[in-house]
Amino acid sequence: MSSPTTSEQNYRDYTPIHEEFDYTVDEFDGALPEGLRGTMYRNGPGKLDAGGQPLRHLFDGDGMLSMFAIDEGALHFRNRFVRTEHYRKSLTSNGLPYRALGTMRPGGILTNALQFPANVANTSVAMHAGKLLALWEGGRPTELDPDTLDTIGVHDFDGGLTWIGAFSAHPKWDQRTGDMFNFGLAMFPRPKLACYRVDRAGKLHGLGSVGLPVPMFNHDMGLTEKHMVFVIAPLVFPMGKMMGAGLGFRNFIEAIDYDAARGTMIALVPRDGGKPRILHTDPLMHLHLANTFEDGSDTVIELVDFDATWEELNGQLTNAQDGLSYAGRAFGGKLTRLRITPTGRVIHETLSDIQGDFPTFNLSYTARRHRYVYLAASADGNSFPNSVAKIDNDTGKESLHRLPEEHFAHEALFVPRPDAIAEDDGWLLVVTQDRRTEKAGMLVLDARDMVADPLYRGQLRHQLPLTFHGTFTSRVAHPA
Ligand SMILES: [Fe+2]
Repeated sequence: MSSPTTSEQNYRDYTPIHEEFDYTVDEFDGALPEGLRGTMYRNGPGKLDAGGQPLRHLFDGDGMLSMFAIDEGALHFRNRFVRTEHYRKSLTSNGLPYRALGTMRPGGILTNALQFPANVANTSVAMHAGKLLALWEGGRPTELDPDTLDTIGVHDFDGGLTWIGAFSAHPKWDQRTGDMFNFGLAMFPRPKLACYRVDRAGKLHGLGSVGLPVPMFNHDMGLTEKHMVFVIAPLVFPMGKMMGAGLGFRNFIEAIDYDAARGTMIALVPRDGGKPRILHTDPLMHLHLANTFEDGSDTVIELVDFDATWEELNGQLTNAQDGLSYAGRAFGGKLTRLRITPTGRVIHETLSDIQGDFPTFNLSYTARRHRYVYLAASADGNSFPNSVAKIDNDTGKESLHRLPEEHFAHEALFVPRPDAIAEDDGWLLVVTQDRRTEKAGMLVLDARDMVADPLYRGQLRHQLPLTFHGTFTSRVAHPA
């Protein structure tokens, strides 16, 4: 039986956090496992107001980093807003200091025309070449101190990224070389995805680009032994709507259309810099890829297919402070595999009927065949992710860790046990939020036994609004 809806219970899906905390978690059940040591960083919109103005869209809130440092059996929590120019100006501005993706500034077209959305550094966080970077797909990363979370400033890879250069929120790492691969969406002078490799020393190298037929939106990418992989949903910015947004008549999110007739475009960009291979397939509405790999002469891509329109998906992200309007839809979509054959056929296969999003896996399997995928999932068609799912691609087995009533799960990060041999020998770190008490916690699950009680459950002293994405590093942060 599904839980009551938000409107029936008036539970909040999104409760902002304005305070910045720093403490060792002293209320917990169970114990942090021996061998689990390091730091999980997470990023998301910490609050949905700026300069006293409510923000309409979940993507608009200022980025807030949260840190979960685990050492010697203890968990230390810290959170800090990213001190972007937007955040700093919003402390004294009357209303939004800059335009947001989904919210206009007060003052109509006079204050909104020819303004680009401000970088709010709110989508993901990466640790590379010793630098902790808050990522936002419309602009450059913001570097933070990995111990204190103090903001250091915009990071442009020593001039490698120009001032309009974007660096997306879903980089992937070559597990052998340590190179980080990523892309940036560029609209001018022609729409394209600019591809990058950042070497282990942190130097950025251009890898060519994928030309887009019209201005389009793309959120994620995959990496195989041979390719950077893009699955580009038919989310387009029609010229008229784009002009309207640029001139300040509408916001940029509303300028996106889902043009199913265009189908989905797949681009395989050779990692050695050759010409991209472009394919077309039936339209898919997705944001996130799981793993991608070469399987003989085929290329395999796993992603979460929402099987929804952009209006439905975007509706779930709009007016978040009033309660996310899920409109009866189950959270997320279904894990789906695309297999690209040498002749260019693209075979679609639904791997599981579980509804979820924020797919993760054992990252040491990046770019090679993996067996397990984890999702923040909706059990029983619930409109928010009340479970963590594990999907076994070899057997088709699905296992669910159901959270207590009215708790929802953020993205689950897999951390391998030291010296693990089996792919799933490790732990899932999951931030959860109790919608009734508005208190968050951090769970440690045994990834091999999803139905078991958590090995550890640390109770935070406050809520934690939905964090989109995070990263785990074996480096232990020392916030003091
Ligand atoms: Fe994402």
